[in-house]
Amino acid sequence: MIAHSLVDRLQFFLIGHALGIETSCDDTAVGIVTSSRVILSDCIHLQSHLHEPKGGIVPTLAMVSHRKSLPTVIRDAVEKARVDVLRDVDIIAVTRGPGLGPCLGVGVDAAKSLACVLRKPIIGVHHMEAHALTPRLLNPLLSFPYLTLLISGGHTLILLTRRVNTHTILSTTIDDSIGEAFDKVTRLLNLPWLPGRSGGPGATLERYASLGDASKYNFPIPMTKDKSQLQNSNMSFSGLKTAVKYLIEEEKLDVEDEEVRRDLAAAFQYAAVEHLIGKLRLCIKECCKGELDVRKLVCSGGVARNGFIRERLNKLAMEYDLELFFPPPELCTDNGVMIAWAGIERYQCGLIDDYFFEQIPKWPIDSLG
Ligand code: KG4
Ligand code: ZN
Repeated sequence: MIAHSLVDRLQFFLIGHALGIETSCDDTAVGIVTSSRVILSDCIHLQSHLHEPKGGIVPTLAMVSHRKSLPTVIRDAVEKARVDVLRDVDIIAVTRGPGLGPCLGVGVDAAKSLACVLRKPIIGVHHMEAHALTPRLLNPLLSFPYLTLLISGGHTLILLTRRVNTHTILSTTIDDSIGEAFDKVTRLLNLPWLPGRSGGPGATLERYASLGDASKYNFPIPMTKDKSQLQNSNMSFSGLKTAVKYLIEEEKLDVEDEEVRRDLAAAFQYAAVEHLIGKLRLCIKECCKGELDVRKLVCSGGVARNGFIRERLNKLAMEYDLELFFPPPELCTDNGVMIAWAGIERYQCGLIDDYFFEQIPKWPIDSLG
């Protein structure tokens, strides 16, 4: 019996290559990664040209684009990695949720067909867990437990990541995510998205903010009508975005003026990040003491590309003597590599799915496990 379970465990550890598929939102991405932490390919088909003219992500356009592009993105990832899928790929991983239902369905159906025909294990991955585990792909020394700050277009979460599949939510937003707030203010300022894989609307706003004077406008922190919900460590970003809108209207600010744009972007970014750091500070005080004594902080998700946030977090980590881990910028925004890696991590814990699972568009990360 013992020998049998040892063989089972060894099987889990001996895995070689994982292919990961990501279609939860607006980009079609596929990556191939080895369990010895080598990224063999990282392919992506961007959709910003479809969504930018509409002022935001249109789910039906995103879904149709995933259906068109996914087969060739998978082919490109396999060719780039120079692997024989049948012989070399050991598991197929796919984002199961959270995300846009029809978009998730495109990836999940493709992954199930591929895995079933090739007789490979399939792993349904939680998108935010994949963001939280990405720094472990880059750094073998990053062990559990750690504090995780996840900042993306759909979520703003502070987690205690205890191990794979086990995350406690310490703080979440009660309304918009920080990424949504960045995107909406970019639209209010009528700014073009940065092209390519560099981050879209949020990246544009960061660029303007880096040239502006944050002290020109003063946005109180935090801004929410219902202050009682914010007594604890929770966050709120929708009031801040509305404050920018009201200021523009009331002061009749010319948002075509480059200086106004830069200063508003800087003041907004400063207030949003101060709010985030304030709440993170509370969570650090809670978790980095006593028996738990967590000494590591991870920051990931699309907004973690932001240089101003990285700077502020570096200072905070120094203040509390924490080791800080970020993925490189291209692995902060959505990609297939992070899904492949999360698949490997889950597989190594024996967490394998069957070929009948469905996508889960709304999927709280603390319901894993
Ligand atoms: O993780 P992600 O690629 O997709 C989701 O899971 O939502 O995050 C996308 C978000 C978008 O809101 C985008 O504008 C934002 O990340 N973002 C940034 C930056 N680069 C991307 N926000 C602020 N500063 C950036 N440099
Ligand atoms: Zn994401």
